[in-house]
Amino acid sequence: MANIVIIGAQWGDEGKGKIVDMLSAQCPFVIRFQGGNNAGHTIRVQGEETILHLIPSGILHRGTTCLIGNGVVLDPLVFLEEADKLAARGIDVSPERLGISKKTHLILPYHKQLDKAREAKRAGRKIGTTGRGIGPCYEDKIARVGIRAGDLTNPALLREKIRHALLEKNTLLRALYKFEALNPETAADELLALAPRLTPYLTDVEARIDEAAARGEDTLFEGAQGVHLDIDHGTYPFVTSSSTVSGNAAAGSGMPPSFFTRIAGVAKAYTTRVGSGPFPTELLDDAGAYLREKGHEYGATTGRARRCGWLDTVVLRASVRLNGFTDIAMTKLDVLQNLPVLRICVAYEFNGERCERIPQEEGALAGVTPIYEEMPGFEDDISGCTGFEQLPDTARAYVRRAEELAGVRISMISVGPDRRQTIMR
Ligand code: GDP
Ligand code: IMO
Ligand code: MG
Repeated sequence: MANIVIIGAQWGDEGKGKIVDMLSAQCPFVIRFQGGNNAGHTIRVQGEETILHLIPSGILHRGTTCLIGNGVVLDPLVFLEEADKLAARGIDVSPERLGISKKTHLILPYHKQLDKAREAKRAGRKIGTTGRGIGPCYEDKIARVGIRAGDLTNPALLREKIRHALLEKNTLLRALYKFEALNPETAADELLALAPRLTPYLTDVEARIDEAAARGEDTLFEGAQGVHLDIDHGTYPFVTSSSTVSGNAAAGSGMPPSFFTRIAGVAKAYTTRVGSGPFPTELLDDAGAYLREKGHEYGATTGRARRCGWLDTVVLRASVRLNGFTDIAMTKLDVLQNLPVLRICVAYEFNGERCERIPQEEGALAGVTPIYEEMPGFEDDISGCTGFEQLPDTARAYVRRAEELAGVRISMISVGPDRRQTIMR
C-alpha cells in the first residue's frame, strides 16, 4: 500500500495539481492538509483546464474520494462555488466523495478584511498576500478563538464565538485600519445560511483514512504552497501562515508520520515566486521575461505575474532535507526550450565565502550572490516526448545534473501541462 505525500519544493506553483491529478488515477483517496484558497492548482486534461483552490486535485477521477483535513483553512463560500462549478460540468461532488474535517477552521469575512487592511498598512514592506484571509484565520486558530467547520451544527455556539471574535476584530478594523465594522449577527446569519449545504460534507477524516488503509487502498496527501513559503522554514516574514513541509501532512490530516511510504517533491526546471521576498536566482532580464511568457507564469489565484529565475539547487537541497523527499517530479522542462545556455545555481557567495545552505538570519538570503554552473540548452520541442531516452542529450544532462545537485532521484519529468505529458523514469 502506498501513502504518498506531494510537496511543492520551491515557492509554490510548481505543478503540484498536475502531479496529484496524474497520480490519483491510482489513488482512491486524496487529502489536502494545509493552506486554503491561497492555493491555485491547475489540471489540464485533453485541453480542458480546471483550477482548484480548495478541493483536492483528485476530483476529476470518478473513483477518487477527496478530503479536506483539519490543517486546512476553508472559506465556505469559495468551497461551495468551487463545488458548484465542478457539478455544472457533470463532476460528482456529492458528500460520498468529498468531505471536510469537523476540525477544519473556517475563514470568515473579518479574516479577509484584516488580511487586506494589514497589507494596505504595510507600505514598503508588503508580503504580497493573496488577500484571502489565510493569515488571520490561522492566527485565530492558534489564539484558540477560531470557528471550526463542526461548529456549523451548533448555531448557538457559532453565534457566541463570532460575537466574541468581533469584539476584538471590530476594534482593530475601526480604530486602527479605518475599515468598517462588521455586524456579528449578520456574519453569523450569513454563515448559518450556508450550513445546510455544508454540513453534509462534515466527516471524520482520520476515520475515513483509517478505513481506506484497512481496505488496503492507497492515499495521496496534497500539499499547497511550497517549502520556502513555510511559516518556520521559509523566507520569513515573506511566507504563508501554515507549515508546508511534509511533517505537516501528518498533523494536518490526523495521521501518524509512520503512515507515509513516499514523499515526493515537485520542482520546476527553473524557479518562480509570487509576492515579495528574497529570490537569489531571479532574472530581471529577457531570459526572465522569456520564462514568464513561455511558461505562462501568471498566478492561478490572483493573476499576478510570477517572478522567474534559474533553478536554485541550494533551495532544492534544503527542501530535500526538510521533507525527506524520496523522489522529485521535475515540471516544465519544456519551457527551457530555445534558451542557448541553462544556468543552475549550485551554491551562494555570502559575506565573501562560498555557502551551500540558506543563511538563516532574517533578510540574509537577499544578500547572497548565486554561483552558477552553465550547461548547453536544447532547441527541440520536447512536449511530445514520452520516454527519457527521447529527450535531447542536453536536456537529459540537465535533469541528471539537477538530481545530482539535489541529492535525490528525479522520477517524473513533466514536459507540458496536460496529464499525459509526463515522463515516468
Ligand atoms: P500548483 O500550484 O503547484 O498546482 O501549480 P499551478 O497550477 O499554480 O501552476 C503550474 C502551471 O504550470 C499551470 O498552469 C499548469 O497547467 C502548468 N504546467 C504544469 N506542468 C507543466 C509542464 O510540464 N509544462 C508546461 N508548459 N506547463 C505546465
Ligand atoms: P500554490 O498551492 C504561490 C504566497 C503569496 C504571498 C505569500 C503569503 O498554488 O502553490 P498568503 O495569502 O498565503 O498569506 O500569502 O504566499 N502564496 C503562494 N505563492 N503559490 C501558492 O499556492 C501560494 N499561496 C500563497 O503570493 O507571497
Ligand atoms: Mg498554484
